This record gives sequence, structure tokens and C-alpha cells, in this order.
Amino acid sequence: MRPLLSLFVGLLLCSSLHAETPVQRPQHALVASAHPAATVAGLETLAAGGNAFDAAVAVAAALAVAEPYGSGLGGGGFFLLREAGTTPRYRFVDARERAPLKAHASMYATPGKAGQAPSLDGALAAAIPGLPAALAHLSQRYGKLALRDSLYPAQRLARDGIGIDALYRERVSWRLKAMQADPETARIFLSDNQAPAEHSLLRQPELASTLQRLADHGHAGFYSGRTADLLVRAVQAAGGIWTHKDLTDYRVIERQPLRAKLQDGRELITAPPPSAGGVALIQSLAMLQQLNWRKADTLTRDHLVIESLRRAYRDRGLLGDPDQVRNPLASLLAPAYLQQLARSIDRQKATPSSSLPPATAWHEGQHTTHFTVIDQAGNAVSATLSINLPFGAAFTAKGSGVLLNNEMDDFAKAVDEQNAYGLTGSQANLIAPGKRPLSSMTPSFVESAGELSSFGTPGGSRIPSMVLLGILEYLDGQPIERWATRPRFHHQYLPDVLEYEPATFSSQEKAGLLRLGHQLQSTNRRYGNLQVLRWNKQSGAVEGASDPRGLGRADTLALPPQ
Ligand code: DON
Repeated sequence: MRPLLSLFVGLLLCSSLHAETPVQRPQHALVASAHPAATVAGLETLAAGGNAFDAAVAVAAALAVAEPYGSGLGGGGFFLLREAGTTPRYRFVDARERAPLKAHASMYATPGKAGQAPSLDGALAAAIPGLPAALAHLSQRYGKLALRDSLYPAQRLARDGIGIDALYRERVSWRLKAMQADPETARIFLSDNQAPAEHSLLRQPELASTLQRLADHGHAGFYSGRTADLLVRAVQAAGGIWTHKDLTDYRVIERQPLRAKLQDGRELITAPPPSAGGVALIQSLAMLQQLNWRKADTLTRDHLVIESLRRAYRDRGLLGDPDQVRNPLASLLAPAYLQQLARSIDRQKATPSSSLPPATAWHEGQHTTHFTVIDQAGNAVSATLSINLPFGAAFTAKGSGVLLNNEMDDFAKAVDEQNAYGLTGSQANLIAPGKRPLSSMTPSFVESAGELSSFGTPGGSRIPSMVLLGILEYLDGQPIERWATRPRFHHQYLPDVLEYEPATFSSQEKAGLLRLGHQLQSTNRRYGNLQVLRWNKQSGAVEGASDPRGLGRADTLALPPQ
């Protein structure tokens, strides 16, 4: 760790954050997730005597079954953990997928078959999954229950079936062609080659058996033996480059979360690289604090948020997998640098991105999932999981029921190549064997002596800006529902446009933003799926909220004292 950052961390450790005030244990446990069946799986696991980490295993596994378009055993993600204690301990479990060992920087230089994007569709798009390793690791290292018990609700859902809802059908419509191109994906996830009817049942018996092998043998039950054989065989038969060594080499990595002081004795605990989100979040919040955002009128506030995001997102191009590139975290988070960034913001007009030094990388997809859990001891989890685009690579390894990710597309395919979103690549995020692609996933906590709150969402490149807007509502004293419901806007440096949900700005605000020099572009639909919770440590009250844009649920469970 670079000296400046450790100073940051050091200062925080001896801060007054966890001092004197008596802490009331959470009156309830709570799970907020993007699917009601996953929320129930978490609560069931807590009721069976599990802690928040067992519940996280249950929720993640249930989401893998119930939202096959969003995350899964064929994907990966990040788990931010809070271990309860007089001084709580935070951990970051990096279960990001890795590039196969045969991957190389120019592997997508040759275009695929007509209509196929090889970094997006099919076996070549898939990086080595991390989620199964994370489930085994969380259960073994932090859980109280056997892995088998925490995986049981997911197995049951896979075997008995899950009802098809409108969201599932919408996600299919985005990926229908790619799904039709893989017979195994079409067989399991489509019906007569089309989106299954609403309320019909999706049964996944092969996935139930794969979960069973994971339950029986832990990590090895996925990364070697029958599951590994099925995965490698199917990927190779379809032109992919996975080997058994890719699977046996895969490990989750525990990293130091990033930590930063916020106003009023609060601390932000968030995702380090290979997420680019935590750095962007710390930078934006630091700029906004220096610009005294809370005192500003609504229009100026929005303008300051946009300008902070523009600057924070620009720096993303410097980041990559910390195991393979040097991330200049100390420079990017240095107080002097953050002051300089804040000073470069003009309150009266937008800074054209073209006038700020050059571009950054952006490769993002369209789906993913987030959930959060707290138990009555105060252990908590904030986790964002992904297979990248809806239904990942739309490739299912025959016999395993495992739908593979297309996370390889999160790499930069070339330094100067633009992706479908008009975003350019970066050196630090080029493909290399065993490398983890840069991510935007930003599971985060904010904690003070009086409160713990948790934030996170899917949404590709818009994740950090959504988490920022949620945290600003919290810092502004707004009720928890508002953190999730608040209309959203986004700026990511390039392209130089201010994107906004249709209901975000009044016509007067739009006129004001145009006057300041912003280029406005409606997203024409709402986006994101934020899951949040708050524990008031003085009263013990726990509350949660699930984004009304999705179908998720935040539910509580009170257990008798043990
Ligand atoms: O890791 C990332 O940044 C992306 N794979 C996340 C994709 C995502 O959130 C799409 N969500 N709607």
C-alpha cells in the first residue's frame, strides 16, 4: 500500500468513529436484494442460525438461480464485509473473474462470425468465474453454518423452479439472438426459442446438481472434478480457450477496502481496484465536500455533482488489476490533488471534457445485481455480483446448467478502440493472461459512531454515480426510501453528455443546466437497482429499501436473544 493511503487508513483507525456511545444491537436482521426469493433465502438462513455471511452465501446463490440474467455461478463479484466488534473489521472479497491463461491483448482483433461479437457472445467471451470460490470462502472463513445449509435454498429453487416475471422477459428480449445461437442456453432459458411466458416455471436441474457438488466438496466441487470437466469440455468445443489449469488456479483475493473520512465524523468504506468505482466515489465526495455542496441551491448542487463525476470518471483510465498494474492510488486520492480538482470546477459553467486531459476506458454492460444483509450481531455484507450483459455470454456449459459471463468485454480491447458506447480503452486495462478486468461495481458502507448504512447497485458505468447520489441523499438527511427512489443523472467524462432519467429535472432545471453549458440526453428509461440499509446504533432500529425500479424486497427478521 502506498504511504499516503496508509496515512489515510491510519488516521481513520484511531478516529472517534467507534468510540464511547453505547451501541444497541440491531433489533432485526435485514436482507435487501433484487429478487424476493433471494431475500427469503437469506432470511431462512438467518432463522436457521446463520450469520450475515451465511445469509450472503444463500442470497448470492439464490440470485444465481432466480436472476440468471444478472449474476450466477458462471460470473463473479465483490463482497464488502463488516465483522461486528468493538472496532468493526472490514474486508473486501474480490471474486472478480480472471482472463484465461491463453488470453492475450489482441484476441478480439479478428471479428467473429457474422452478427457475433466474440467479446460479448459465446464461449470466447467468458472469463474464469469467481462466485463459486467466493461462496466457499465466505462460508468457510466467516460463516457459522455448513456450506451445504446455506446453498440449500438455492438448490431447492433450481430444482423446483422459479416463476418467470416481466423483468426476465425484458432481459431476454435484449439478448434473444445470442441466446438462440447457443442450443443449451435456448433449451434451458427460452421456450420454443422465445422468451418463456410470464408465470411459467424455469427449472434448472443441472444447476441444482452443480450446486450439490459445490455443497458437497466446497471450492474443489466446482473448480475440479465433474463440474470442471463439463465446463472445460463445453468451452473448448465451442471455440473457447479455458483449460483445467485456469480453474484450479482460481482463488478469491482479500483486499483492503478503500476508506475515506466524510463530513460529521462519518467514514466511507468502499471497493478498491479492480473496481474503479470506489476511487471515483471518494474523489467525487471529496470534491463535493470542498465545494460545500449542501449549502448550494438545487441547480448548483446538480451542476457540482456533474462536474465532480466528470473529473472522477476521467481518472478511471489509470486503473487496472492491482495484481498486474501499478494503480496510482496515492496520487489519485491525495488531498492536494483532490483540492486541485475541486478548484478546477467553475460554479457558473460546465467544463467541456475536451478541455480536460485525455480519455479513459469504458466498457460496461447492461446487467448485474446487488444485495445487502445485516444480522443481529451487527455483521453486515454489501455485495455486487455480475455476469456482465444480461444472460452473460448467452453460453451455457452443457450438463452443468452454468451460464457463463462475458466479463472479457470489461477489458479494453485496444487502447484507442471505442466500444459500442463510444468509450475508449486504456493501457492499464488491456487483456493479459490471468488478469482481472476493471469493474465499476461499488459495494459500499458509510459508518459513524451512531450509524451504519450500506449502498450498492448494478448499472455498468453508471454504478458509481448512482451510489454517489444515494450517499448524498443519506448525507442530506433524507429518509431511506429516497436514497433508492431518487431520480438519477450521470456523467462519465466521455462522451461529454449529461444523461438523466426522464423524471429527473423540471423544465426549469433543464433550462438552467443548458445555460451552464451541459449537453442533456434523456436515457428514456429508468436505470439501476439500488439496495440499501441503515442501522441506527443508538436505538438499534434497522431499516432497508429496495429500488422501486426493480422487483426486489427488503425484509426483516427478529430472532429471540441467544
Ligand atoms: O463489472 C462491471 O463493471 C460490469 N460488468 C457491471 C455490469 C453491470 O452492472 C450491468 N448492469 N446493469
